Amino acid sequence: MDTYQSPLDLVRERSVERPVALVRPGAVAVAATWFQKNFNGDVLYAVKANPSPWVIRTLWDSGVRRFDVASLPEIELVASAAPGAKMAFMHPVKSRVAIARAYHAFGVRTFALDTHEELSKILDATDGADDLDLIVRLAVNVEGAQYALGGKFGVALDQAPALLMAARRATSGLMGVSFHVGSQCMRPTAYQAAMAQASRALVRAGVFADIVDVGGGFPSVYPGMVPPDMSDYVDSIHRGFAEMMVHETTELWCEPGRALVAESTSILCKVELKKGDALYLNDGAYGSLFDAAHVKWPFPVKIVRDGEASSEMKPFRFYGPTCDSIDHLPGPFWLPEDVNEGDYIEIGMIGAYGVAMNTRFNGYGDTETVEVTDAPMASMFGLAKRMIPLPKVEEEEARKVVRFSRPKGKAGQRRRRR
Ligand SMILES: Cc1ncc(COP(=O)(O)O)c(C=O)c1O
Repeated sequence: MDTYQSPLDLVRERSVERPVALVRPGAVAVAATWFQKNFNGDVLYAVKANPSPWVIRTLWDSGVRRFDVASLPEIELVASAAPGAKMAFMHPVKSRVAIARAYHAFGVRTFALDTHEELSKILDATDGADDLDLIVRLAVNVEGAQYALGGKFGVALDQAPALLMAARRATSGLMGVSFHVGSQCMRPTAYQAAMAQASRALVRAGVFADIVDVGGGFPSVYPGMVPPDMSDYVDSIHRGFAEMMVHETTELWCEPGRALVAESTSILCKVELKKGDALYLNDGAYGSLFDAAHVKWPFPVKIVRDGEASSEMKPFRFYGPTCDSIDHLPGPFWLPEDVNEGDYIEIGMIGAYGVAMNTRFNGYGDTETVEVTDAPMASMFGLAKRMIPLPKVEEEEARKVVRFSRPKGKAGQRRRRR
């Protein structure tokens, strides 16, 4: 991988036609080190957030030994990029073939489930193995996440006791519980609340868990979203764990995806056309910018131009390169008003669910990867500021900004009274 000090050095040195993933392995290493130092348990990386081999290798080199995988290709990837890693197959719905290969060919012993049917499938596909670690995924009721993940997976809490008992009986290995509070969780206490619900389900089932896996959900920084300090999250989890009915040897796990990789990558795009306030880029909704289009996140942007740019900033929207009209990223993305065809734009904080989402639709999606050594645009781990200020916006735009905490002082009191 070529290394440049900054995206500007790259565009100064050569012309760049394809979108470029500008990667900062150092940022992944810092995040991984933080989690391992501050989380009193095992840290499993959720590979889905960014399955790039350089990410897996960096995490391995930083001491991460466990990986949360959701499919056979992810298992194959981890086995080749980090031989010796321990994998947990945490997708609650797997094919029999995938379960059998994971168990027999890759030595995977940890499997998640949220139904009795999946439990039978796991036992059948592993030929009745008795050395399985079975994790029951619970559907917890908590708020505070930008992406709710409760709808698709997880056994309802009133049905959990029967499944917990069945899982306990099914293995001489470990039995555990997991949940996901939702991605980009802005409320640390969501974890403690979820753990209390898990604890109640275990008590009702009359079983102890050997593993409590609090899932992912740890946030990163995006414009208009300033998460609490990461230590507030681990404090909430440690408090929740202390309050749970568990035994002395119960293991505590977490599965961060976003938080380990979000800061590590920017995408460098080229402006192919300017039409009023719309910039047509060479990357978009079907490439690495899925969340900017489908969840309308206004990722932070910077112009990368070898020369002066106007100091007057204007809001722009983007279109991606495909012919589909939903390939539209509404932003607003604030850029110098003279941004134009041929300019490059760095879109930051896109290391999670960015390159992972890339498709080949319409023949696009071919991305190159280079390493850069500059700082990310924001950081939860001290590499940059923990906030991305929004430019001064019009009244109407300001009302669209999502607030996650009450403003302090008089403004907060006014809102409380309403
Ligand atoms: C089972 C599981 N664990 C962990 C994660 C990672 O979540 P996040 O990126 O919010 O940390 C996900 C994301 O969908 C998940 O499904």
